[in-house]
Amino acid sequence: MKGRTALITGGLGVIGTAISREFINLGAKVIVVDRGSKEKAQAWQTQQKEEGYEIACIYADVTNYDNCCDMAKNIEKNFNPIDIIVNGAGTIQDVSFRKMTPEQWNHVLHTDLDSLFNVTRQFINGMIERGYGRIINISSVNGEKGQFGQTNYASAKSGMYGFTKSLALEVAKYGITVNSISPGYVESKMVMSIAEDIQKQIIAQIPVGRLAKPEEIAWAIAFLASERSAFITGSNLAINGGIHMY
Ligand code: CAA
Repeated sequence: MKGRTALITGGLGVIGTAISREFINLGAKVIVVDRGSKEKAQAWQTQQKEEGYEIACIYADVTNYDNCCDMAKNIEKNFNPIDIIVNGAGTIQDVSFRKMTPEQWNHVLHTDLDSLFNVTRQFINGMIERGYGRIINISSVNGEKGQFGQTNYASAKSGMYGFTKSLALEVAKYGITVNSISPGYVESKMVMSIAEDIQKQIIAQIPVGRLAKPEEIAWAIAFLASERSAFITGSNLAINGGIHMY
């Protein structure tokens, strides 16, 4: 990955942080995209720097196409061209379907699925021109198997597979690979937000017997982002501790 530049959306979360660090360890430059407060991002950057990781951070709302256009212009002016995209921005609003509001449906679909279009569309032609690219979309085990209370999230995560395979077909001949990964339950803020009794039930169902560590997800993404993974495209990698096999 030496000399490559990676863009990671949702980069400030624990998984995004682990991916950023893994990529830097492998020689890439990393730009994370965040829509939160500048103070929070700066504090995060400072902490990473103190621990030896220099990570650029730019602000954009991945649910907003125009915002992503501005972000791409900013990157074009101030950074190297993007070689690797990790579409990692994601959110949940879990509630059973009979109670789900249009806002809960739209918010999750905009963040988890529309963002793939809004972000990837900005950089795909540059990748085609340069004849190289790695795109990794972070889906979920719940996009594969469905989950009570997640009709919105599972629809978005499952939609990612169609996006991944279709784009993979379109860009394969330009040296660009497009893959998805489907993590199971990870030691993350998202999973910690589930009620404790439900968390316990979930962990009891994981054959490995624990939640995934963010670094275990990051390692799989780095594998797909490597130059050496050029023949893997349109695929989905399950990383779920055995909770769902297919
Ligand atoms: N399967 C079957 N029935 C279930 C159920 C399940 N998994 N969970 C709840 N129920 C039942 C309850 O027992 C209850 O039954 P009764 O009405 O007979 O008492 C009923 O469904 C509750 O229904 P509600 O309409 O009241 O449910 P709710 O709208 O309050 O939502 C919930 C409940 C918030 C969805 C809760 O079930 C929950 O948090 N589930 C876990 C969801 C989950 O796994 N989210 C993953 C988040 S992390 C993530 O997504 C990362 C990733 O990629 C893996």
